[in-house]
Amino acid sequence: MSGGLLAELYAQGAFNPALPQHELAAAHIPLGRLGISPAPERLLIDAVGQTDGLTLIVGASGAGKSSLMTYTAERLTELERDGRRYLPLLVPVAAHSAGAANLATFGRLAIASLLAALPVGADDRSRLERMTADNVTRQLPSKDFNARLALRGGLPGGVARAGADFGVTLRGEVLAISSPGALDHDPYGGLDELADMLRVLRRELVIMVEDTDAWAFEPDGGLETAQAFFAGVLAPLVSPGFSVVVAAQTRWSGLDAFSAISERAVARIDVPTYSLPRAREVITAIVAGRVSWTLGDRIDHSASEVLDDGALDVLAARLRDTGSVRSALSVLRDTLTKVSADFPPVLTREHLLESA
Ligand SMILES: Nc1ncnc2c1ncn2[C@@H]1O[C@H](COP(=O)(O)OP(=O)(O)O)[C@@H](O)[C@H]1O
Ligand SMILES: [Mg+2]
Repeated sequence: MSGGLLAELYAQGAFNPALPQHELAAAHIPLGRLGISPAPERLLIDAVGQTDGLTLIVGASGAGKSSLMTYTAERLTELERDGRRYLPLLVPVAAHSAGAANLATFGRLAIASLLAALPVGADDRSRLERMTADNVTRQLPSKDFNARLALRGGLPGGVARAGADFGVTLRGEVLAISSPGALDHDPYGGLDELADMLRVLRRELVIMVEDTDAWAFEPDGGLETAQAFFAGVLAPLVSPGFSVVVAAQTRWSGLDAFSAISERAVARIDVPTYSLPRAREVITAIVAGRVSWTLGDRIDHSASEVLDDGALDVLAARLRDTGSVRSALSVLRDTLTKVSADFPPVLTREHLLESA
């Protein structure tokens, strides 16, 4: 059937760039597998495994920072350090500009993010809401993904125990350390206590800070918020007793506070930018990956089922020029929408140029 595949991909939103975190992780094509060396995935796992402290992921908006972070978070749950499995915790800071300079507020947000991911009863739920109501945010978009990370595989060391049991234990411990008043005088907002408590449960805390990009939409371009966050929250977290990973848009890397912490960070991992031939290879693999992942039929599909060579050239140029995989995927999604009245067998350069 002519255009049947494109119709199916359109119906399933195959090229939607805004995916929930577990889907971002599932759709991630490891850059190491595309021959990019050193592989950012390996660099990130090694940085977290090496020592406690801060690791920075830097890249343009849409370059793939969240994709890399969520994928690596899932891999970390399969690995151990000193006999403790990792517990990555994604902390959403997008809506968090009022408390951006305040480590105690950030700590509460992290603890609330973990609690929100665990089985919580009605009483505890209202306490959680009180914790997160002031200065922080009501948005906890990472909840489902954090639950997957926290409950994955239960306990380390091959002990067969359901993740749900572990979740109940963990919830009790987290509620105890965050009981009313307990954190009032702790400048770290309980993050150090959280890390210690998790070690007793044989878990190694990895705080992952997501979506600092979103501050760019603030009226002043987010520079003040970002500066306050790097100076007030991340500077004191340069050498904490646990690992912290932060995704930062390239524009924040010009800030004084960024340079100051960057020198003392465990690692800085740059999401690569690409020359034209490289961009073509990368976007070809990502498109093929999205088709296979969307159809879920266990067949390795290829980009040429969807796009001709000229169309791939347009996407490659877009990726090279913007450094943004999101931007290239958006062109593809918009083109599919545009031709949805009458799908052609494959998309051509001309189809894409009309949307680009
Ligand atoms: N290595 C990759 N493999 C598959 N998809 C990717 C990859 N890198 C980026 N993407 C896709 O590009 C889009 C933007 O990536 P994202 O991680 O959200 O960018 P950032 O966080 O840097 O703004 C997402 O839809 C994501 O799925
Ligand atoms: Mg992101």
